[in-house]
Amino acid sequence: MAARSRTSRERSEPAPGPGGPQAPLHVAIVMDGNGRWAQKRGLPRTLGHRAGVEALKRTVAAAPGLGVRWLTVFGFSTENWSRPAAEVSELMALPKRYFDADLKRLEREGVRVRALGRRQGLAPDVVALLDEAERRTAGNDRFFLQVAFNYGGQADIADAARRLAEAAAEGRLDPASIDEKVFAGGLSTAGLPPADLIVRPSGEQRLSNFLLWEAAYAELVFQDVLWPDYDEASLAAAIAAFRARDRRFGGAVSDDVLVAG
Ligand code: IPE
Ligand code: MG
Repeated sequence: MAARSRTSRERSEPAPGPGGPQAPLHVAIVMDGNGRWAQKRGLPRTLGHRAGVEALKRTVAAAPGLGVRWLTVFGFSTENWSRPAAEVSELMALPKRYFDADLKRLEREGVRVRALGRRQGLAPDVVALLDEAERRTAGNDRFFLQVAFNYGGQADIADAARRLAEAAAEGRLDPASIDEKVFAGGLSTAGLPPADLIVRPSGEQRLSNFLLWEAAYAELVFQDVLWPDYDEASLAAAIAAFRARDRRFGGAVSDDVLVAG
């Protein structure tokens, strides 16, 4: 009965409640499909990654108008180092491509940039660029853009565990005080709201080590569009799918649904 009533709700207005009729505040996107986009056109993968930067610009520009306040994008994973060296160096050049084109605008439009993931392992010029983007936008609070670069969900959790263990070994932290909240404070996403909606374009249906902890109650939306073709309409469609979901965060089906059913 409950399942049937949820289906009818999906076709009508979503219920009020956390994330109900509103847009998802925190959207996270796995920017995937650059290589296939290029291959389909007989182009080198490099050009797919460059086209992906254009899609990122479009998506960041569109997000605030769709009610999104936090946008987290997966740019380079701790596993992407296993790609051919030439492709890795193209991927490493993408932050410069993006920030050269857009950092001034982000700064002016009140966007705060934050890089997630390990700085260690990145070339000093890439670290400097990420630091500069953070520093120049540190006073902004209209919109929050997190760029996950050299990021892995498992690596981030392991790093947090190590930091907490070090603090405990040094007597700065009582192990008994470690709970979900304290643990989350050790992640590179500390202080961000949990992800409401995780989107993956390109047809793949997996998280690939993105926001493992933060995804606990995220709604997952998979889209067939390849990332370089992503635009405002794609994001609006993902948000429409999110809005049709009945989020319960482990709670029971609410009374009004049972009554309605
Ligand atoms: C996303 O596109 C870019 C990164 C993962 C860094 P891909 O390069 O994964 O594109 P496909 O999956 O091969 O199409
Ligand atoms: Mg891919």
